[in-house]
Amino acid sequence: MAGSGRLALGTLHVPGWVRGSSPAVLSRLRDAAVVRPGFLSAAEEETLSGELEPELRRRRYEYDHWDAAIHGFRETEKSRWSEASRAILQRVQAAAFSPGQTLLSPVHVLDLEPRGYIKPHVDSIKFCGATIAGLSLLSPSVMRLVHTQEPGEWLELLLEPGSLYILSPPSRHEHSPVAGGPPHPTQPQPVFSCRGSARYDFSHEILRDEESFFGARRVPRGRRISVICRSLPEGMRPGGLGQPPPAC
Ligand code: OGA
Ligand code: MN
Repeated sequence: MAGSGRLALGTLHVPGWVRGSSPAVLSRLRDAAVVRPGFLSAAEEETLSGELEPELRRRRYEYDHWDAAIHGFRETEKSRWSEASRAILQRVQAAAFSPGQTLLSPVHVLDLEPRGYIKPHVDSIKFCGATIAGLSLLSPSVMRLVHTQEPGEWLELLLEPGSLYILSPPSRHEHSPVAGGPPHPTQPQPVFSCRGSARYDFSHEILRDEESFFGARRVPRGRRISVICRSLPEGMRPGGLGQPPPAC
């Protein structure tokens, strides 16, 4: 129907924690880059940070690699969790992953000191599957996604403590050759290079304190811990020999 596309963009609901370079980018990535503020209760946040603190405190913050994507960080891969934390992680799994997706069993925990930041990068498809879901603890931060081919196309996510973000490939119907139609059952599902893939067509970064703005709003950075669940890389079997390295 003529004009319906423009109408749809005009009425696009944009929540207060996502900004984008254009309505078209916001619309395209609406399901591929999602933020759920207040996903954790204050008690759940304390459960996670209280459990992580003693393990993180044993490690030193790392800075100096000139080519490293992350500065001012310490990290761990955690497989064993208290029952209370397991219940939280199961909620993340239910909210962010489809029943058919297998998760990497160690959960990636990244502790950024107040001056710490993550430079733009695209996660390696060798080590990280199609979907990642991250809980943010302690400090707010801004995650920016920039199209790798079209730097004018970007999205910013405001990540408050207790929020969950989910980066995933476009939903299945977006692969369909017929708009709105069901995918053909035997058609291979492309995992990357899809229009609007927040995971592979866009780099992501966490802004350093000096640059930490969400539009005009200053988002002062303190220490931030993220707890990141990842789906299994394509072709890697659960419990298989190939163990992933510490980070994506
Ligand atoms: C990473 C990464 C994001 C976050 O470790 O590759 O992008 O939320 N982390 O900490
Ligand atoms: Mn990453």
